[in-house]
This record gives sequence, C-alpha cells and structure tokens, in this order.
Amino acid sequence: MKKTIFITGASSGLGKETAKLFASQGWTVIATMREPAKETELTQIQNVHLLKLDISDVKQIAQVAAKAEAIGPVDVLLNNAGYGLMGPFEGTTDEQLAQQINTNFLGTILVTKSFLPYLRERKNGTIINVTSSTANIPYPFVAVYAATKAALEKWTEGMSYELNNFGIAIKTIVPAYMQTNFGSKSQLVSHPDYQELFDEYIKAMRADASAKRDTPESIAEVIYEATQNNDKQLHHTAGDLSTKEYQWLRKEGIEEIMNKMNQRFFE
Ligand SMILES: NC(=O)c1ccc[n+]([C@@H]2O[C@H](COP(=O)([O-])OP(=O)(O)OC[C@H]3O[C@@H](n4cnc5c(N)ncnc54)[C@H](OP(=O)(O)O)[C@@H]3O)[C@@H](O)[C@H]2O)c1
Repeated sequence: MKKTIFITGASSGLGKETAKLFASQGWTVIATMREPAKETELTQIQNVHLLKLDISDVKQIAQVAAKAEAIGPVDVLLNNAGYGLMGPFEGTTDEQLAQQINTNFLGTILVTKSFLPYLRERKNGTIINVTSSTANIPYPFVAVYAATKAALEKWTEGMSYELNNFGIAIKTIVPAYMQTNFGSKSQLVSHPDYQELFDEYIKAMRADASAKRDTPESIAEVIYEATQNNDKQLHHTAGDLSTKEYQWLRKEGIEEIMNKMNQRFFE
C-alpha cells in the first residue's frame, strides 16, 4: 500500500533530499516549509505535496496535522527542521535563545503532539526526530543548539516508553557534519571578550568538518532504512563521525544502563 511521510524543513538540505528519496520510492510526500511559494524543485515531483509550516508558529502547527491527514494518513512524521545558534553564549540575546529553543525543541514536540491522536487511533506510525551528534558530545560555541538536540534525544527516549504501547515507534537520527546550508544559515553571535577563542574554534571546526562531511543523500538513506521495519530501535547514527562517537558511548555502557533503569517501570 502507498505510504505517506510528512517532513518539516523540506526547503533544503536533509529535508529536501529525504523528500526526493521517498518520492522516488513511490511514497506520498508532504513536504512542509516556511515559504512554499519559493520552492521550484519539489513542485516538479508528482507525489509531493507542499504545505506551509513554520515550526516556531504555534497557530500554524495547530492546523497542519489536520491538513496533512486530509492528503493521506501519515505513516511517518520526520521532524527535521532546525537551525544552529553559533557563538559565545554571553553574546546571545534573550530573543535569540527563545527562538532557538522554540524552534529546535518546542516546535518539534508540538508538531509531534498534533499528530499523536491520529497515529494512536490507527495504532501505527513512526516518528523520526533529527538530532545531532552534539547532543551526545556537545561542542563549544553551540552549547544551546546542542542542548536543544540533547533535549530532543531525552524526550524521544522517554516518549518511546509511552508510545511503543500504542504501536507507535519514535526514533532519532543522529548526524554529525552534513554538506548542507546548515553552516551558512546558522545564526552567528559574537562577544568581544571571546573573539580570539571563537575565531580559533571556527578555524579548527571548519577544517574538521570539511574532512568529515556526509552528504544529505546518504543520511536520507539512513532515514529511509529506519522506516523499513517495525523495530523500536531508538537511536540511528548517521554518517561515519556520528557512528564513531556513538561507539565510544556504547563502549562505556551508558545507553544500556539508561534503558535498564527505565524498563524497570514496566517489569
Ligand atoms: N548539517 C549538519 O552538519 C547537521 C549536523 C547534525 C544535525 N543537523 C540537523 O539536521 C537538520 C537539517 O539540517 P540541514 O543540515 O539539512 O540544514 P539546512 O539545509 O539549513 O536545512 C534546515 C531546514 O530547516 C528549516 N527550518 C529552520 N527553521 C525553521 C522553522 N522555524 N520552521 C520550519 N522550518 C525551519 C529550514 O528552512 P528555511 O529554508 O526556511 O530556512 C531548512 O529547510 C536540522 O535539524 C539540523 O539541526 C545538521
């Protein structure tokens, strides 16, 4: 049977590549973005439907699940939209902090909440949240970004114990560096007392990133794989660096301990 995926932030990068991949596999794709009128590529694909959605706008979120369900019952919700806030924390304004949290974390969980009644009624569905390897190993000068992604990781983990009981899988895809517009779209923050340190960090980070970047196409494949079976695997590393970092954490047994602690409530 033809399946449907709903994607946030499909105007570029990973969101757009995932939309193209699922469409090429015969899925109905609901590609959401802040400015659908500007989209020229996805409009050429027959089984792609565009919807307007700014995930930091609660009024838009309130209406979008019903609009999407009218196109087709949503089997997979891909929470991909997000952006980076980069620079010394002391240089950030309160508005920048609120916008970062309201987009990457609050926006994502509110979009998910709006779909839950539909998925629960059907006792079926997969929710995939795009986080980041910075959630596990936070880098300097992106501490708030990393915290939003760590919050998503922990929220996903907690929610899995609630939702798995209703036949709904919830997972995270954990990329490290991808070749997208993410860097150029990041909101840059400065503070004179950190300038030297920040410049040094940016130089090292750029060198590190250029050596290790994954293509969004390859990460879209990981997302596709994660929808192909009914398993409840929580975290999906995506790309070489992400996989390596995760292996270190696994070696320390952190994930297993957390899992055991939570499982005890259901034994
Ligand atoms: N690139 C990396 O190295 C990397 C690494 C780890 C994780 N990630 C995560 O991967 C995801 C995709 O990022 P990307 O690398 O593909 O970067 P990207 O090309 O900048 O794509 C980000 C997408 O999110 C959208 N977006 C931002 N704020 C939004 C909002 N308020 N409402 C709706 N859409 C919004 C952007 O829309 P506009 O076009 O309107 O700005 C864009 O479509 C993000 O969650 C990011 O945090 C990226």
